[in-house]
Amino acid sequence: MSPKEQLDTLLHESRTFSPAESFRQQANFQDEGIYESALQDPEAFWSTQAQELTWFKDFESVCNWEPPHAQWFIGGKLNAAYNCVDRHTLTHRKNKAAIIWEGEPGDSRVLTYDMLRREVDKAAYALRELGVQKGDRVTIYLPMVPELPISMLACAKIGAIHSVVFGGFSAQALRDRIIDADSKLLITADAGWRRGKIVPLKANADEAVVDTPIEKVVVVERVGAEAGIALHEGRDVRWQDLMASAPTSPYPAEPMDSEDYLFLLYTSGTTGKPKGIVHSTAGYLTGVNTSMRTVFDLKDNDVFFCTADIGWITGHTYLVYGPLSAGGTVVMYEGSPDFPDRDRYWEIAEKYGATILYTAPTSIRMFMKWGSQYVEKHDLSSLRLLGTVGEPINPEAWMWYHKYVGQERCPIVDTWWQTETGCAMIAPLPGLITTKPGSATRPVPGIAVDIVDEDGNSVPPGHGGYLVITKPWPSMLRTVWGDDERFRKTYFGKFEGIYLPGDGAHLDEDGYIWILGRIDDVINVSGHRIGTAEVESALVAHPAVAEAAVIGRSHEVKGQAITAFVTLREGVASSDDLVTELKQYVVERIGAMARPEEILFTAELPKTRSGKIMRRLLRDIGEGRVIGDTTTLADPSVVEALKAQYKDQD
Ligand code: WTA
Repeated sequence: MSPKEQLDTLLHESRTFSPAESFRQQANFQDEGIYESALQDPEAFWSTQAQELTWFKDFESVCNWEPPHAQWFIGGKLNAAYNCVDRHTLTHRKNKAAIIWEGEPGDSRVLTYDMLRREVDKAAYALRELGVQKGDRVTIYLPMVPELPISMLACAKIGAIHSVVFGGFSAQALRDRIIDADSKLLITADAGWRRGKIVPLKANADEAVVDTPIEKVVVVERVGAEAGIALHEGRDVRWQDLMASAPTSPYPAEPMDSEDYLFLLYTSGTTGKPKGIVHSTAGYLTGVNTSMRTVFDLKDNDVFFCTADIGWITGHTYLVYGPLSAGGTVVMYEGSPDFPDRDRYWEIAEKYGATILYTAPTSIRMFMKWGSQYVEKHDLSSLRLLGTVGEPINPEAWMWYHKYVGQERCPIVDTWWQTETGCAMIAPLPGLITTKPGSATRPVPGIAVDIVDEDGNSVPPGHGGYLVITKPWPSMLRTVWGDDERFRKTYFGKFEGIYLPGDGAHLDEDGYIWILGRIDDVINVSGHRIGTAEVESALVAHPAVAEAAVIGRSHEVKGQAITAFVTLREGVASSDDLVTELKQYVVERIGAMARPEEILFTAELPKTRSGKIMRRLLRDIGEGRVIGDTTTLADPSVVEALKAQYKDQD
């Protein structure tokens, strides 16, 4: 479906689903007044929420807003790891499961809060022994194994800033992120498991760290002998050795200022260079902890299964800091949803009695394609709430999720947010809000959202516009690592003092928000944010390529797929082999998620007379649409040639 058709479908969506009385009665939030009171006095609302955390020293004031810089909970001292782990060991949660981990080959591990405390403290001790100081950056490149959250929490415990790089990124991408963050230490694994195959993390890491500031590489043994790795004398240290020699006694938590940085997480933007999004300690933790209780209605007996990888923000927030700060139990799965069979998620949900499931529309569309029989094989009666994130969910996928996974019993929270926002911004509170398939509904309490036109004026219902967040919130990014100017320009450059996420949206007559997708040169492939400029710079780095333009086109399962238009250098002939080679080249420079779906060679790219590539026309071609206005083209025949070629490709 083209975006226009998608929009038409969304605008005609009229089904509504009210929370069941039984759900409403047990919900954490049952009084709609919370929206109004949070709107009237957001600082009072957030100050109350912050009391859920354990503070070493109380904050003196709630918020200082000097656009674009916000400070929250000023004067307070706390520690994120202490809040996620230690404090629960002093309560009835001491022997409660914190992390239930399922490995892809079928092994599993359960860490209670007390056990997690010991692991985190041993790792914190080991990091300090290796010379990591407060404020140092530690890059983490691990598969989905318990050592990943343990490493993150160990960094937080000693006040080091972690930068997790998704295990699917290539050596080159890892290297760029290590250099940008100026990390001295890397934590990686011998290898990871994916669909029964070995992912060579250590080999990538070896390549990535050459001529970088990395001094030590800590290697977790996940796969063992089969990984066939060698340790680099003097540089590499085995995680298992470090842990074996570390004491299990409590390691003191570093008291951090509210505004001290907790982590960096790189995300794609409109230039070729990824941005290190910076999150603070108190604001981030308050935001994520609040949304566990509001949006996810978390209770002590819940089992929260989040299918995201911790390498992305969803995993940071909803597998680590959110559920653990709230004393919850999370289910963490290492591998692929179709290994060994297509029912793996449902098998895991049944095995551990998951009560809340959080996944992405792209996965739901894949499950739909596979068929409901895989879900129906399992007893999913423990589920009581479902969530989705990552891209707009089409109403059909929403209905399928509702019917087959939620068995028409579970409310669905469609959560709109970003790496930059830290936690869910637009989402229903499940006990209060009637949902509509495809709409993230309304902003969560404490968040002020608007939809505006080019001049910053609110648009009336039914009109598309820029989604904006008009007031600061605790878990907002603090800056872009090493580039405050980019932070200012990207997010606050268009409207003074107002945050611009880069998504389009519209409001319906009931005041519900419908997200329409990105309005910039960022594409969303299976919920992964990829900058067209990143893929273009990877392509033009290849000696055969003269110029490249990349667009996103709609894709049935992935949401969007990457199409690259490429002009070759003089004398280079196009061939199927070259297509394969270029795709592989992008994978090596970025990662498998950035592999172009198709590459089209063209003698020329459509350009304006001033030499600007007309992406709009390329997108029209990609979507098979009627081509828009071509009068500004320097050479209109280019489009005809491209169209003919695109047809041949089908
Ligand atoms: C998109 C993921 C519609 C959006 C948490 C945003 C969504 C980008 C939704 C952020 C949703 C995320 N409905 N679109 N529920 N959730 N998006 O940083 O375009 O990986 O700007 O964070 O994903 O992606 P990111």
